[in-house]
Amino acid sequence: MRTFKKIVAGGLALVAVLAAAGLALTHQGEIAPQAGIPTAEFSPQQIAKGKLLAEMGDCAVCHTAAGGQRNAGGLAMPSPFGTIYTSNITPDAQTGIGSWSFEAFERAMRHGVDREGNYLYPAFPYTAFSRVTDEDMKALYAYLMSEPAVQNTPPKTALGFPYNIRRGIAAWNWLYLKPGVVKDDETQAPEWNRGAYLVEGLGHCSACHTPRNGLAAEKTGEFHFAGGSAEGWDAPALTAKSPSPLPWTHADLVTYMKNGFSPRHGVAAGPMAPVAHGLSQQSDEDLNAIATYLMSYRDAKAPAGDAQALIREKTATPKLALDAEGYRLYQGACMGCHRADPSGSTFGVRPQLALNTSLHAASPDNAILSVLEGIQKPAHPDLGTMPAFRHSLSDAQIATLLNTMRAQYGLQEWKDLPAKVGQLRQQTAAH
Ligand code: HEC
Ligand code: HEC
Ligand code: HEC
Repeated sequence: MRTFKKIVAGGLALVAVLAAAGLALTHQGEIAPQAGIPTAEFSPQQIAKGKLLAEMGDCAVCHTAAGGQRNAGGLAMPSPFGTIYTSNITPDAQTGIGSWSFEAFERAMRHGVDREGNYLYPAFPYTAFSRVTDEDMKALYAYLMSEPAVQNTPPKTALGFPYNIRRGIAAWNWLYLKPGVVKDDETQAPEWNRGAYLVEGLGHCSACHTPRNGLAAEKTGEFHFAGGSAEGWDAPALTAKSPSPLPWTHADLVTYMKNGFSPRHGVAAGPMAPVAHGLSQQSDEDLNAIATYLMSYRDAKAPAGDAQALIREKTATPKLALDAEGYRLYQGACMGCHRADPSGSTFGVRPQLALNTSLHAASPDNAILSVLEGIQKPAHPDLGTMPAFRHSLSDAQIATLLNTMRAQYGLQEWKDLPAKVGQLRQQTAAH
């Protein structure tokens, strides 16, 4: 998981520097375990609200291992220094966070420090979570504490020296953690401010969509939402720099978040699929607020463009000889699902690829990963799945196929494509 790797690498590089310098860092004390869970303090409304907030924050996406119980931890996040395992955040007193008072929970979310006083690795996106209001933090706590307790001890995270010295993260926090609730911008409408709060706080959209600096902290200013990465996937720019051939409109964003699919741009696959699933649970007001905020990173007045006209333009006339190998591969392997005319389709969304962001991006990674691995877990089951072509197409065939599609859609060929397919094939071989 490249993002986590980077976050971890940054935090960890600093650990090394500080260990060498022999700096003594602030010690965080233990917060006493609570005797029991204060269930009587939680209202049903608060618990329901906390559930939605947990969807917004993707807690279960990271805190659930493949085939494991919800939020019981143990998802492996590989890093160059070793593997970080997510914690059990069910209310089990021994193996989960059942003994954590609200104060301890809040300290973890706002400052990245666990109940016993150990610093947590920033693979846990507390830099974003620290910006949540007290009211929302309490609702999250009420929800998590009301879920079933699952006894499960995730594998222990054991990074090599000096990365195992968690106190070094204090210095990274000092540089990059800016605790404090997202502030309203008085010059903006309430809807914009609500969107900013959700996107910059629990939504942690910038964790994936913003590039990182040498110490693996998110870059700021013009780089905010300029495109980042996650688990080997590119998370495209959410700004005017988006590689999408049609500009994103407010309505496109809402449709994409609600359905995991925008007919004018494509699907939410890879690490965006579970994020989109969480977004689809949110209210229309909140999705509109998020879109309003994100549109302020683009030219909101740009003409939407005519999708059907652009599809016709890109697909009407063949750009290569009709018997070109790429066309034959497309007809044999792809066309059954990705037809030129998606009307009357009975199988999922059969997305029209002529406008797909992944095929128009500067980097081929998302397109290659979609073909190699298929799309086994779409944002919603009714979008349909796509089979993996890892075992039926060679590196050279995938490269020819994708570059033929690029040529057909009027784009430059991707360079060194067979080698890139080979690399990604190797990197994803384990699963
Ligand atoms: C991108 C992945 C990711 C997401 C999303 C995420 N977490 Fe975590 N979380 C982690 C990792 C990794 C750790 C363990 C870090 C470590 O061991 O240093 C962690 C640790 C924690 C801890 C400390 C538990 C302990 O026993 O030390 C709490 C509490 C927590 N997360 C709550 C949440 C909540 C609540 C949400 C949703 C709002 C959430 N997390 C979303 C990755 C994530
Ligand atoms: C875990 C990483 C991750 C997080 C967190 C995340 N995204 Fe994404 N996002 C991605 C990836 C990867 C893609 C590319 C998906 C694909 O090609 O199918 C993507 C694609 C998108 C796209 C489509 C872009 C395009 O031009 O096609 C939008 C819009 C988007 N994300 C919005 C959001 C919003 C809003 C949030 C926060 C609420 C968010 N994302 C949080 C990883 C993430
Ligand atoms: C059995 C049907 C099926 C076949 C065959 C198929 N696909 Fe797909 N494909 C889908 C579906 C369904 C989706 C949307 C999945 C989702 O909602 O996440 C998709 C999505 C995609 C995407 C979008 C990924 C993204 O991140 O936006 C690309 C690119 C793609 N397919 C390329 C191909 C190529 C190239 C082939 C031929 C090698 C192919 N597909 C064959 C069903 C198929």
